[in-house]
Amino acid sequence: MSSFEHAAKRIEELVKVINYHNRLYYDEATPEISDYDYDMLMEELIALETEFPSLRRNDSPTQRVGGTVTKVFEVVSHQYPMLSLSNSYNEMEVAEFVNRTERSLGLKPEYVCELKFDGVAISLHYEKGLLVRAVTRGDGTRGDDVTANVRTIRSIPLRLKGDFPDYFEIRGEIYLSHQNFSALNLQREEKGMSLFANPRNAAAGTLKLQDSAEVAHRRLDCWLYHLIGDTLNFESHYESLQTARTWGFRIPHQMALCHNEDEILEFIHDWKKERTSLPYDIDGIVIKVNSFAYQQQLGYTAKSPRWAIAYKYKAEEARTKLLSVDYQVGRTGAVTPVANLEPVLLAGTIVKRASLHNADIMEQLDLHLNDTVVVEKGGEIIPKITKTVVELRSVDAPRILFIKRCPECDTLLFRQEGEAAHYCPNSYHCPPQIKGKLEHFISRKAMNIEGLGEGRIELLFDKGLVRKPSDFYHLKYENLFGLEKEFISEDGKRRVVGFREKTTENILNNIKLSLSVPFERVLFALGIRFVGETVAKKVAEAIPSMDRLMDATYDELLMIDEVGEKIAASLGAYFDDTDNIKMIEELRVAGLQMEQNQIKKSADGPLQGMNIVISGTFEKYTREELKQLIEQHGGKNTSSVSAKTNYLLAGANIGPAKRQRANELGITLLTETEFLDMLDI
Ligand code: IVH
Repeated sequence: MSSFEHAAKRIEELVKVINYHNRLYYDEATPEISDYDYDMLMEELIALETEFPSLRRNDSPTQRVGGTVTKVFEVVSHQYPMLSLSNSYNEMEVAEFVNRTERSLGLKPEYVCELKFDGVAISLHYEKGLLVRAVTRGDGTRGDDVTANVRTIRSIPLRLKGDFPDYFEIRGEIYLSHQNFSALNLQREEKGMSLFANPRNAAAGTLKLQDSAEVAHRRLDCWLYHLIGDTLNFESHYESLQTARTWGFRIPHQMALCHNEDEILEFIHDWKKERTSLPYDIDGIVIKVNSFAYQQQLGYTAKSPRWAIAYKYKAEEARTKLLSVDYQVGRTGAVTPVANLEPVLLAGTIVKRASLHNADIMEQLDLHLNDTVVVEKGGEIIPKITKTVVELRSVDAPRILFIKRCPECDTLLFRQEGEAAHYCPNSYHCPPQIKGKLEHFISRKAMNIEGLGEGRIELLFDKGLVRKPSDFYHLKYENLFGLEKEFISEDGKRRVVGFREKTTENILNNIKLSLSVPFERVLFALGIRFVGETVAKKVAEAIPSMDRLMDATYDELLMIDEVGEKIAASLGAYFDDTDNIKMIEELRVAGLQMEQNQIKKSADGPLQGMNIVISGTFEKYTREELKQLIEQHGGKNTSSVSAKTNYLLAGANIGPAKRQRANELGITLLTETEFLDMLDI
C-alpha cells in the first residue's frame, strides 16, 4: 500500500473512532477514553490531514478544533423569528395556561414538558445533511453568524445520518457544564483575569470569541429542542424531536408527554429538587402543546407563541447574618472580598461564605456589620448576597467599607480606571502574591518543576530560601535536605512535608531540567497579568527574544495576534518595573531560555534522519521537551505512526491505536529511559 493509501485508510478509521468517542462522551456521558487519549487521536488525524490535504473530509471532526478567526460576525436575518416564551412563576399561571389553551381549542390536547436550559439560544441550519450556518438569537429578527465557533462543539453534528429533509433549522441552547465553567474560571483566576459570574454569561461570552480555537478549548455543549422547516412531515413536536435524534442530534431525554395540569405540575415538582443534581443549569420547565396542527391554531402574540409557556423556578434564597468580611489576595495582587455568614441551609448545603466580588458590589449592597442579608443560589455556583434587610439593622451598626490597605502587607491598594478590582501593588514583598507567583512559576505548563507542591514552596518561603523565581536556581542539596514542616492540606488534614534524600535529589534535578523549557513557557512562567499560555506563545512567536520584548513599543505589542490594549499595557508595565528586569537578568544568568528555538538542531546527532513518534505521558520530561530533544539530536518528531517511523517513544497510557499500528509495522517501542540512554542523558 502507498503511504497515501495508508493515510486514507487510517483517516477513515480515525474519523470513525473519534465520532464514536464523541457520541459516548456527549450523548451517553460514558466516555471510554481519557481526554488526553482523545486529544492524541485528534492530533494524529490533524497531522495526517496536514500531510495529505486532499484527504480532509468536509465533516472531519478536526473542524472541531477551530482555528478560524472572525473579526466581525455577519448579521443574518432569521427566516422564522426567534421568539421568547411568556414566563410564569407560580402554579396558578400554569393552570391558567392549560385552561386558556383548552378553551381556545375546545378539547384537551397533549403537552410536552421539557427542561428550560439556561444558556444561549442558537439556530442551526442544515442543507442536504450538512451544517451550513449557526445564528444567535440577536434581537429575534436578526442574529450573528457564529458558524465557525459552533462547529467546534463536539455534540453538534456536522453531517447527519438517515432520512432528513433537504433544508431545515433546528434550535436549541448552547451552555457550559458546571465542570467546564469552573475549569474556565480557575484558568482565568490564574491569569489574573476577571471571572465569569455564571455559566450562562461564560457561554454567551465564549460564543462571541473571535478565535474559534479558544472556543474549542472551552468545551461548550448544546441541547436541541425545536425543529422548524417548510418541508417537515411530522404531526407533533415530540415525534419531530425523536426523529431528529436518529439523524444524530443531541435531544434531551428528560421530556414527558402530559395530559393534564396535574401531570404537568408533577414534572415541575420532580425537577425542582432533581435539577440541583444536573451537571448544568436549568432555570425552569417549558410546557408546549404537542400537536403542530393545534400549535398553528393557537398562533402567536407579537413576542411569543400562545402554544407554550415557561415555568421559572425561583432561585433558592435564605436569610442569615453577616458576621464579617475577609479579603483574599491572589497571585496577581487582586483583592477579593468574601462575606463570612452565620451558617444557613440553602439548596441542600450549609452556606458559610459568599463572594462579594468587588468594591462596587459591596457598595451597592450597603453592608453594615451584623446585617441580616438574603443569600441566593441561582445560576452561580458560589452563593451571593442579593440584598440587605435594612429594617432589621441596628441603629449603631457600623458600615462595612472596602479596605484601603492590603490585609497581608499593609500597602495602599489601588484601582485602575475602568477596572472593578482593587490591587495590592507590592508584588515583590506581599506574601500571598510571592507564594502564588512561585507556585505559578513551577507549575506544569510553566517551568514544570515537579516535587515542589504540597506545602514545599511554603516551607522554602518560610525559611527564607526562595523569595523570587531566580532563587530556585541557587538551591543546593545542603539547603534543602532535612527541612520539614507540618501543614494543613486542602482537605483539612494535617500532613508533614519535607525534603528527604531522594526528594531533594529529584527536585534539584527537575530544577536543572527546567533550564531547557522553551522561551514561550518562560514568558508564561513570569506570571505577567493577562499573559496566559496562548498569549505567551503568540508573543514569543512574534518577538522571539526577551531582549527585544523588553524594548518593544506599545504599538509593536499591539500588532501581535491575540494582544489587545489591555495585554499590551500589562506587558509594558511589567517591563517598566526595574524589579522585574532585575529578576529576569538573574534568570538569564541561571541559564533559562531567553530566546525562542535557541536550541540548535544538530545535523549529525545520534538520531540523524530518524522519524520518532511520541505517545503517552512521561516521568522526566514533558512531550514538548522530548520533541526538542529529538530535534536537538538530529531526529524528526512526527505525529502519526507510518512505515517511515523508526521508533515509537512510548510513555504511560499510550494510545491503543498507536500501539497496535506500531506492532503491525514492526516498529520498536522505546521507554523514556531507553530513549535517554540513546542520547546519553
Ligand atoms: S422553545 C418559540 N424549549 O428559553 C419559543 N426554549 O424564553 C421556542 N429555552 O429563547 C423556544 N430551554 O433560549 C424552548 N426546552 C426549551 C428551552 C427553551 C431553554 C430558552 C430559549 C428561548 C427562551 C425562551
